Amino acid sequence: MTHRILLLPGDGIGPEIVAEAQRVLEALDERYGLGCEVETAAIGGAGYDAAGEPLPEATLRQAREADAVLLGAVGGPRYDELPWALRPERGLLAIRSALGLFGNLRPAILYPQLAGASALREEVVAGLDLLIVRELTGGIYFGEPRGVRTLDNGERQGYNTLAYSDSEIERVARLAFEAARQRQGRVCSVDKANVLESSGLWREGVERVAGEYPDVELSHLYVDNAAMQLVRAPRQFDVVVTGNLFGDILSDCAAQLTGSIGMLPSASLDEAGKGLYEPVHGSAPDIAGRDQANPLAAILSAAMMLRYSLGRGDLADRVEAAVGDVLEAGLRTPDLQGGSRRVGTREMGAAVAARL
Ligand code: IPM
Ligand code: MG
Repeated sequence: MTHRILLLPGDGIGPEIVAEAQRVLEALDERYGLGCEVETAAIGGAGYDAAGEPLPEATLRQAREADAVLLGAVGGPRYDELPWALRPERGLLAIRSALGLFGNLRPAILYPQLAGASALREEVVAGLDLLIVRELTGGIYFGEPRGVRTLDNGERQGYNTLAYSDSEIERVARLAFEAARQRQGRVCSVDKANVLESSGLWREGVERVAGEYPDVELSHLYVDNAAMQLVRAPRQFDVVVTGNLFGDILSDCAAQLTGSIGMLPSASLDEAGKGLYEPVHGSAPDIAGRDQANPLAAILSAAMMLRYSLGRGDLADRVEAAVGDVLEAGLRTPDLQGGSRRVGTREMGAAVAARL
């Protein structure tokens, strides 16, 4: 069986880190007969350069035909002056929406070797293993109406809409409860139900779905408190489920607990489990092309792809173990503190591939 994988390297450090993930996939192919056929297409600023738009039609077509998509990162100062609709970030939002990738899984796991690199004390974060399930195709990111209008007094006003429907809430809640069943059996839903109507409905929807999962424990937190709890006592969380904007913010916060955002993978899934996989970090234009970026988040994203879209949890385990091994051996890219040997992007990728 051959898996069709589409690589979307994107901008900044995207191409360098995706190349290392590809190296790992090739090693799996050689050693364990993974069987994959890899294609590459342009997205973000690279899409704009190649075809005049951040999500070229050909790229979307290839993404629809692929079994899974692995994306690097989008964005960069070169594109900051472009009109809104042509900005690299629009390409990312458009592909999430066009492929119906409503469920974004963002695990935050602290590798024991990096406990000293966290912004929090070791005794607060040791053993951290939480999963943020972020709704990805709704909420204020996509709500209509949106825009900039001119008020009667001549002043301009920017506005957006935070809307969630019953079905949007229920399907992402279900994903969170299913994930909790494979973990510690606890879901914490995060909202702002003391202020927002959309959050009131969110809470009701999550409660309804909880009725189907009597074996999973459900709690609720307001987002401000959740942010505080994440840095106060992060190990209280198992699965956190939340809307698009709150999930965007909380997942960066959770990322930092693990020592570096350069370590965090993510999966964005549609209703059939097809997915787009990408590191949580951005395009880091300041270090692009200098062999300094940490490829581990991209490599761990490839591991999530093996597990969720390609049915190869066994190979995902191998990749994750190899990442643990290189950290244990003391290899560190510049974003990671500690260790005994500074390495670049390529050496880190090669070290993981060698340990598979
Ligand atoms: C993320 C990013 C994106 C988002 C940006 C680049 C549009 O921050 O994936 O978290 O806000 O979703
Ligand atoms: Mg973000």
